[in-house]
Amino acid sequence: MERTHLTIILLSAFLVSSLLPHSLNAATGRCNPSDYEVLLKIKQALGNPYHLASWVPNTDCCDWYALQCNDTTNRVVELTIFSGQISGQIPSEVGDLPYLDNLTFRKLSNITGPIPQSITKLKRLRFLRLSWLNLTGPVPDFISELSNLIFLELNFNKFTGPIPSSFSSFTKLGALRLDRNQLSGSIPESFGHFKGSVPDLYLSDNQLTGQIPNSFANMAFSTIDLSRNKLTGDASMLFIPNGSSVIIAISRNMLAFDFSKVKKLSMQYLDMNHNMIYGSIPKAIVDDANLQFFNASYNRLCGVIPTGGNMNRFNYSSYIHNKCLCGPPLAACK
Ligand SMILES: *[C@@H]1O[C@H](CO)[C@@H](O)[C@H](O)[C@H]1NC(C)=O
Ligand SMILES: *[C@@H]1O[C@H](CO)[C@@H](O)[C@H](O)[C@H]1NC(C)=O
Ligand SMILES: *[C@@H]1O[C@H](CO)[C@@H](O)[C@H](O)[C@H]1NC(C)=O
Ligand SMILES: *[C@@H]1O[C@H](CO)[C@@H](O)[C@H](O)[C@H]1NC(C)=O
Ligand SMILES: *[C@@H]1O[C@H](CO)[C@@H](O)[C@H](O)[C@H]1NC(C)=O
Ligand SMILES: *[C@@H]1O[C@H](CO)[C@@H](O)[C@H](O)[C@H]1NC(C)=O
Ligand SMILES: *[C@@H]1O[C@H](CO)[C@@H](O)[C@H](O)[C@H]1NC(C)=O
Repeated sequence: MERTHLTIILLSAFLVSSLLPHSLNAATGRCNPSDYEVLLKIKQALGNPYHLASWVPNTDCCDWYALQCNDTTNRVVELTIFSGQISGQIPSEVGDLPYLDNLTFRKLSNITGPIPQSITKLKRLRFLRLSWLNLTGPVPDFISELSNLIFLELNFNKFTGPIPSSFSSFTKLGALRLDRNQLSGSIPESFGHFKGSVPDLYLSDNQLTGQIPNSFANMAFSTIDLSRNKLTGDASMLFIPNGSSVIIAISRNMLAFDFSKVKKLSMQYLDMNHNMIYGSIPKAIVDDANLQFFNASYNRLCGVIPTGGNMNRFNYSSYIHNKCLCGPPLAACK
């Protein structure tokens, strides 16, 4: 009896001691040890915010808030830090999560400073969203090294300086959002030469100057938003005959070109208010059966407003404050 007891005690002690290191690992569960270390460093770099309270040491990081692991590899593939009380800079350690597919920091007004160069290590990254932050400095050229990007969103920040012309080297990009920054200089000529997919381009609400590159005549952007900048000169190259543009927004610039020379319109949305566009509204607009939104107000247009087709969708507010537009829905021509 006594002996059996002793044996059981010894056996249990042996089992417990042999299992101990194992059970420590079991505490972090599926979590990859390297990802685990990196995530704790990120938490620390962000000042251990309440937003990341679920990032508790010795627990399975794949269960932590604001991230996703791949079900097969258990590597961290998504990090989405959205709308919390978090201050500081984007930690350079994010570059040490090598399997990231999605990286998002969004709506965190106290996230400041530059984009860390370490993100260029994230060769698998497809979705990069660093938006509604207070990031400053230039939009870094090195982002173009992330050649698998499908979606690049850096809007609603305080970036200054020029748009990197190297961004035209992306071949899989579906959307490029640089709107609502303080970017200056002109739109890179290279943006008329995207190889592979042609991204939706959002450059509105910056301080861009100069002309829209003529190379844009080769590029059928499905959506192009250049509004609220200081662009000058011609925009007629955006109206590509048989093009596939759906949305063209160029309002609130200083564009000046003869609208009459546009021979075909085929978009759904055309906003060109507040420019210095002259000539007349091309008759061809009547043939654009898709046109849902049109605003040509506050320009220097003249002549009779074409009627027919879907033109009765648009009331006088689409035409006000021009030089001498006339006819319904404005007053009759003299
Ligand atoms: C998870 O990783 C495996 C192996 O790399 C990959 O085949 C699979 O597509 C990934 N799953 C998801 C949902 O990304
Ligand atoms: C940002 O920082 C300021 C000053 O430290 C603080 O008062 C404010 O609550 C912070 N806001 C957020 C959203 O973290
Ligand atoms: C990344 O985000 C995209 C779009 O939101 C989604 O389709 C994709 O599945 C996400 N990838 C991961 C690994 O969560
Ligand atoms: C940037 O910070 C200022 C206060 O310093 C805040 O008013 C503003 O909303 C922030 N910007 C964004 C995009 O959150
Ligand atoms: C545009 O399309 C029309 C018919 O839809 C066709 O007749 C014309 O050749 C096309 N023009 C160009 C430049 O592709
Ligand atoms: C004119 O059209 C716009 C856009 O459809 C609409 O918001 C507005 O209410 C209209 N104005 C009048 C006076 O009908
Ligand atoms: C067109 O733009 C002008 C100026 O911003 C605005 O007053 C008017 O309501 C707009 N009309 C439509 C239909 O968008």
